[in-house]
Amino acid sequence: MKRSDFRIAPSLLSADFARLGEEVRDVIAAGADLMHFDVMDNHYVPNLTVGPLVCEAIKPHCSVPIDVHLMVKPVDRIIPDFAKAGASIISFHPEASEHIDRTLGLIRDNGCRAGLVFNPATPLDWLDHVMDRVDLILVMSVNPGFGGQSFIPSALEKIAAVRKRIDASGRDIWLEVDGGVKADNIEKIARAGADTFVAGSAIFGDKDRAGATARMREALKRATMPS
Ligand code: DX5
Ligand code: ZN
Repeated sequence: MKRSDFRIAPSLLSADFARLGEEVRDVIAAGADLMHFDVMDNHYVPNLTVGPLVCEAIKPHCSVPIDVHLMVKPVDRIIPDFAKAGASIISFHPEASEHIDRTLGLIRDNGCRAGLVFNPATPLDWLDHVMDRVDLILVMSVNPGFGGQSFIPSALEKIAAVRKRIDASGRDIWLEVDGGVKADNIEKIARAGADTFVAGSAIFGDKDRAGATARMREALKRATMPS
């Protein structure tokens, strides 16, 4: 994988919500490729965050695509609202939709790239009949709901399995990883096959966001070299 193929997506979940616009501009200046936007509903996951209004509010500050991660149930009703609010990518968990194919279609019909998210215990079988309908596959390396958790090592095998499926499909599907990604584990996550890396606490928790992002890029550069 070439270095330019890797994308770093800071998760706003760990930002200072009282200064969100500034935080968004700051991590973009520090080198973010995408802005990861975690939406939680206190129903599908035991936490409550932000919705389309906040997405719309950050949009003018955001010169990179907004990567919306829906941890809500049900999902369909809210999808057009996020598309209107400026999302470029919208991902959802298959357990949260009664009709996966319809939800994937709805996201694309609203002009966004469609993503499917896999919790640590969610089997990849959900992909069997929809590989032509997904633009992004997101592997959770923690259970969703909170920032700052530790990376679950078994996610590496799952990432490798998803990489195989993507390569076999011959499609340009992004492979994103979310949860506990840090400068000291990102190389092995990339070697397992991921190309897009969500990092909340590792970037927002560091006063020097440019330094934190650069350390991740350095590690990603090593991932392109023989081990
Ligand atoms: C967890 C969220 C993540 C979270 C990651 O449910 O989906 O995006 O912000 O945070 P870190 O990088 O701190 O694990
Ligand atoms: Zn997320």
